[in-house]
Amino acid sequence: MAEPIPYLDLPAQLRPLRNEIDAAIARTIDNCSFCLGPDVAQFERDFARFCGADHCVGFNSGTSALHVALLLLGVGAGDEVITTPMTFVATSWAISYVGAKPVYVDIEDATFNLDPKLVERAITKKTRAIMPVHLYGQPFDLDPILAICRKHKLPLVEDAAQAHGATYRGKTVGTFGEISCFSFYPGKNLGACGEGGALVTNNAAFAARARSLREHGSTVRYYHDEVGFNYRMEGIQGAVLGIKLKHLDRWTRERRRVARLYAELLADTPLQLPQPADYAESVWHLYVVRHARRDDLKKHLEANGVGCALHYPLPLHLQKCYAHLGYRPGAFPVSEKAARECLSLPIYAELTDAQIQRVVSVIRDFFRK
Ligand SMILES: Cc1ncc(COP(=O)(O)O)c(C=O)c1O
Repeated sequence: MAEPIPYLDLPAQLRPLRNEIDAAIARTIDNCSFCLGPDVAQFERDFARFCGADHCVGFNSGTSALHVALLLLGVGAGDEVITTPMTFVATSWAISYVGAKPVYVDIEDATFNLDPKLVERAITKKTRAIMPVHLYGQPFDLDPILAICRKHKLPLVEDAAQAHGATYRGKTVGTFGEISCFSFYPGKNLGACGEGGALVTNNAAFAARARSLREHGSTVRYYHDEVGFNYRMEGIQGAVLGIKLKHLDRWTRERRRVARLYAELLADTPLQLPQPADYAESVWHLYVVRHARRDDLKKHLEANGVGCALHYPLPLHLQKCYAHLGYRPGAFPVSEKAARECLSLPIYAELTDAQIQRVVSVIRDFFRK
């Protein structure tokens, strides 16, 4: 059998950076700047600039950043936050952590993102925020959602965990809402060598309180202004992310090459391909195709050495952990169908044209049978 094509090839990404990363980690160890420290502070400045935002606060994960985002907005017990059921569960965790209730709204079939047409009818007196996700690296339709936020005086939190550098009408995501949150989980477009996340905002007071909340509710050591958390970014992760950020634009260009080639080579297959919206430029965190026989196709790809994955096989309103919310199958038909049909193909900067051609030929084989 030909060489397997992994779903994700982090070793290939790390290989050319290895000396630089080793030196940065060694420096962090020599300085003993393990928790926050100068490399984290420098990365925060660099990532804020990358997003075009005033402030970036480094966290130990995207989940922690989302949690703190809702605390900053004063969301708490008995409140509701509107979000999407078609996302990684952490988007909803943040809502649950503050004691609020996730209120799901279905997605658009074409983009997998929150359907702006359905948002307004989900707003109640208890709604405190709207928190959509730029899923798979493609920005959600910000203009109509921002208009709803303005009309109902609700803050917008962008879950940008999958969308570092994606643009909406030419402007980088992460600066449209009151607060945006990013993940630097290793497989993300910008990934740490471990866990990491960031909260990005133009609001100086939010940034200052986020810095305190991530560090035990404290700005002066051993004096605690409020109940806080240990959500600090590790110094080593700040150092690694600073190195990797310099390569992100190039990696994004390469992801776009992969997406373009898939689109061209798969155009005449029975697969439903991603449909990029004209208002957005995706950073292609994932390349998600759709087909009714998804499970068989997945088995076929894996049997032929092509890695693939499901994002996500079960929407959040049907997860066991959210059974108490009382949603039934059929509540969000577009999300449920997407969950049944979605299949993520390999996409990363290092994927060669030859590898892409092989993925496509294995897919063609499946439909010939
Ligand atoms: C959409 C989305 N939100 C939130 C998160 C949580 O980020 P983390 O894994 O860094 O906690 C992730 C990634 O894992 C994600 O994909």
